[in-house]
Amino acid sequence: MVEKVVCVTGASGYIASWLVNLLLRHGYTVKATVRDPSDKKKTDHLVGLDGAKERLQLFKAELLDEGAFDSVVHGCIGVYHTASPCFYDTKDPQFFSLENLLLMMTADETWFSDPDFCEKSKLWYMLSKTLAEKTAWKFAQENGIDITVINPGMAIGPLLQPTLNTSVTHILNLIGAETFRNTTYRFVDVRDVANAHILAFENPSACGRYCVTGKPLHLSEISDILHQLYPSLKLPQKCVDDEQSMLALPPFQVSQDRVISLGLTFTPLELSLKDTVESFKEKKFF
Ligand SMILES: NC(=O)c1ccc[n+]([C@@H]2O[C@H](COP(=O)([O-])OP(=O)(O)OC[C@H]3O[C@@H](n4cnc5c(N)ncnc54)[C@H](OP(=O)(O)O)[C@@H]3O)[C@@H](O)[C@H]2O)c1
Repeated sequence: MVEKVVCVTGASGYIASWLVNLLLRHGYTVKATVRDPSDKKKTDHLVGLDGAKERLQLFKAELLDEGAFDSVVHGCIGVYHTASPCFYDTKDPQFFSLENLLLMMTADETWFSDPDFCEKSKLWYMLSKTLAEKTAWKFAQENGIDITVINPGMAIGPLLQPTLNTSVTHILNLIGAETFRNTTYRFVDVRDVANAHILAFENPSACGRYCVTGKPLHLSEISDILHQLYPSLKLPQKCVDDEQSMLALPPFQVSQDRVISLGLTFTPLELSLKDTVESFKEKKFF
């Protein structure tokens, strides 16, 4: 059998760990980059995956080091580039990756954030993702590289890594809280996001951008679903804003058509929420 070698950058992260897991299950050999391969907190969950002993190799690579990824990607039939700081208090947009958090008005894959708006609004994370994607498309075009971009919503679902990442904290923050923030998110299951990456890679006709986002739901609605799933859990019933306005962000829908055409089936939100909470319990986050 021909060895199928792929690279995953930022492999210890939340989404990337699931991606590595699925790739190993699909029979790929995975060259995984992490910043510190000797940090067991970042690597133990990867080396413990099924197939890792035979087909997972860890490499050290830091985004800001010029050429750090060159030797790792050499010989790979595909590269999944997910490495990027993923938090909202980034002070400048120097960190680039290919994925782009869709946070403002959009209807489908034709939409991009406006970099000027992001800069004026000091939305550094969003700016970094927008510039990263634009840079990637330009570089790919100029160098004849075939790229596909996955644009996920807010990812939730079980954690493989031992630490919390930014997107799941929106759920953890509801547990035991008095109030919920006046915000709407498009939560999507992390396993669906990982699966979309593989579907896009394995389908020769896949091209362009794919939004992988769930239905827009206000945090009050998320809190209600959690209450139905876990009646004894303390969950907020009040909005942090006095007016309890439900219109923090207009509840626009992002089209799922393109990614569904690749064969993705979305995990029901209730299951994603349940698996998230069970994962929090197992890891003793509350
Ligand atoms: N989670 C979401 O809801 C969501 C939604 C849309 C898009 N995204 C994008 O999806 C990707 C993964 O997100 P995630 O939630 O899985 O994030 P995460 O758990 O925070 O993982 C990010 C990974 O990036 C690596 N990284 C950070 N800075 C780096 C640097 N300077 N050089 C090399 N590696 C670096 C980290 O590596 P170390 O472990 O070595 O520190 C970490 O493993 C990111 O590009 C993010 O912007 C995420």
